[in-house]
Amino acid sequence: MTRITGATKVAGVVGQPIAHSMSPILHNAWLAAAGLDGVYVPFAVTPEAFAAFVGGLRGGSVAGLNVTVPFKTQALALADTVTERARLAQAANVLVFQADGAILADNTDGLGLLAAFAEQAPGFEPAAAPVAILGAGGAARGAAAAFLSAGATDIRILNRTVARGQELAADLGPGVTAHGLAQADKVFEGVGALINATSAGLSGSAGLDVPISATPATAVVMDMVYKPLITPFLAEARGLGRPTVDGLAMLIGQAIPSFEAFYGQTPPAGVDVRSLAKQALGL
Ligand code: ATR
Repeated sequence: MTRITGATKVAGVVGQPIAHSMSPILHNAWLAAAGLDGVYVPFAVTPEAFAAFVGGLRGGSVAGLNVTVPFKTQALALADTVTERARLAQAANVLVFQADGAILADNTDGLGLLAAFAEQAPGFEPAAAPVAILGAGGAARGAAAAFLSAGATDIRILNRTVARGQELAADLGPGVTAHGLAQADKVFEGVGALINATSAGLSGSAGLDVPISATPATAVVMDMVYKPLITPFLAEARGLGRPTVDGLAMLIGQAIPSFEAFYGQTPPAGVDVRSLAKQALGL
C-alpha cells in the first residue's frame, strides 16, 4: 500500500465510466517500484461537471490527468497550450497542470500505438507499406496522425459512414484517403498493417465484417480494443496466420509517456505491468 504523505504528488485518470480503467494499476505499480511519493487515482466525473472539474485543478494541485472516453475532445478544447500531435489527433489523453495555472494538452495514444507495433511486431516498419485503418472517429484520427508522423505516405481510412472518413482524410492531407467498407477487398491489397480503430468488437457489441484475408500474408493486424484482449477481429487474423498486435500493448505504450509527464521520470524497468493488467482483466 502506498504511503500517502503531505508531499504526495497526485495524478489520475478521468472518464465515464472509469471504474474498470487499467491506468491506476499501471501507474501505481510503477510508482511503488520507483519508490516515488506519488499516487494515481481514478476520477469519475459527469459530462456536465467535466469543464468545472478540470478548471478547478489549474495551478497544479493535481499534477496531471489522463483523459479517456468521452472527454478527449473536450479536454483539448480546455487547454491553453496544445502539442502538435494532440492538435493533429484533435484529442487529448493527457492534461498537465502547470504551476502558473496553464493547462497543457498532449496526446500519447499515437506513441502508444507505434510502441505496441514495435513490441509485438518487431521488424515492422510504419513507412514501408500502405496502412489501412478501420473507423473515422477520434481513435482512427489519432492512429492516422501517428502513422503520418512515422513517415507513412499511404493511409487508407475505411469507414461505415464514408463522409466521415472523407472529412478526416481532407483534414490530414494527401497521404490519407477515404473508402467505404464495401471496398475493403481492393483497399487491403498490399497493406503492411490493418488497424481496427472502430468501437465494433468491444465487449457486447457486434464484430466487424471485413475480409482480413484480402491483406497480404505478412500484414500486421491490430485492434485497439483490449477487452476482450483477443477480439473476434484479432482471432480471425490469427486464424489466417497474420501477426497481431493487441490493444493492451497500446494502452501500456501510451501510459509510459503519460507517467513521464506527471512524475518527471521514466517508469522503472522490470515491472511486468502487462501481467498485472491481464490479472485485473481476469485473463
Ligand atoms: P472514437 O472516438 O473512440 O473513435 P467514435 O468517434 O464514436 O469513437 O467512432 C467510432 C467508430 O467506430 C466510427 O468510425 C464508427 O463508424 P461510423 O462513423 O459509421 O459511425 C465505427 N463503428 C462503430 N460500430 C461499428 C460497427 N458495428 N461497424 C462498423 N463501424 C462501426
